[in-house]
Amino acid sequence: MDVAKLVAVLTASPQSLSEIYGIGNVHGSRLPLVQIPTTAGTGSEVTNISIVTTGATSKMGIVAPQLYADMAILDAELTIGLPPAVTAATGIDAMVHAIEAYTSKHKKNPLSDGLARQALGLLSRHLIRACENGQDLAARQAMLLGAMLAGQAFANAPVGAVHALAYPIGGIFHVAHGLSNSLVLPHVLRFNAQACAEQYAELAAIVVPHAAGSTAARAEALAVAMQQFAAVTALPRTLSQVGITAGDLDLLASEAMKQTRLLGNNPRPVARADAYALYELAL
Ligand SMILES: [Fe+2]
Repeated sequence: MDVAKLVAVLTASPQSLSEIYGIGNVHGSRLPLVQIPTTAGTGSEVTNISIVTTGATSKMGIVAPQLYADMAILDAELTIGLPPAVTAATGIDAMVHAIEAYTSKHKKNPLSDGLARQALGLLSRHLIRACENGQDLAARQAMLLGAMLAGQAFANAPVGAVHALAYPIGGIFHVAHGLSNSLVLPHVLRFNAQACAEQYAELAAIVVPHAAGSTAARAEALAVAMQQFAAVTALPRTLSQVGITAGDLDLLASEAMKQTRLLGNNPRPVARADAYALYELAL
């Protein structure tokens, strides 16, 4: 879908790919664009973002209003063959979009909040079902709708430190995007809870409605619930399991700090030492 966005833009433009990296650098219009996801994860069918691999370990982002599609089609039949591990990882990515939009520092608003809450409800109620029975069309359709709503949420209120820490894991070690997110997610949630426990507690009421106790306890319940999704769906849960060692953490921390576009959205500032410590917890 991200390639299709760029093809639609570049085919109709004298600009080259390298000229449109960054935010707002696309000039002119594009060809008609219809986006049809085959995973319930990225939400790219409704975002104005394209992420493109530019080298062995590098990716670049293009953000421009021209990248919004004319139409998105959500057809659950197209996700039926998705293996459980991919269903789980992409579904957790979509949940991260909702969670990070809900706690986004600058652009969080009532509209993005509503989208994020609706997305998280659909995704959290149907992820296990879709993983356990890939043929469950109703669960698949709910996942697609949830991922799309989460995409609209973070197109309004952009994602933060989970994605900032996940990008180098994907870029350098070629770990899939959803799994990269899942590996750092619980640690970033606990780190951020100092700044946004109230918001996490509100989301816990959606994901784990039985959670009770103090605001901090309900925020912790959200982190535990997200860890449970990875455990129940048998995803790797540590960086070690995907081949990352203690010697790699310096490089990861340095690369994560370059994700300034994302880190600026995080509810709590992330210093380099914080990034290193978070990777260490995830190891
Ligand atoms: Fe993502």
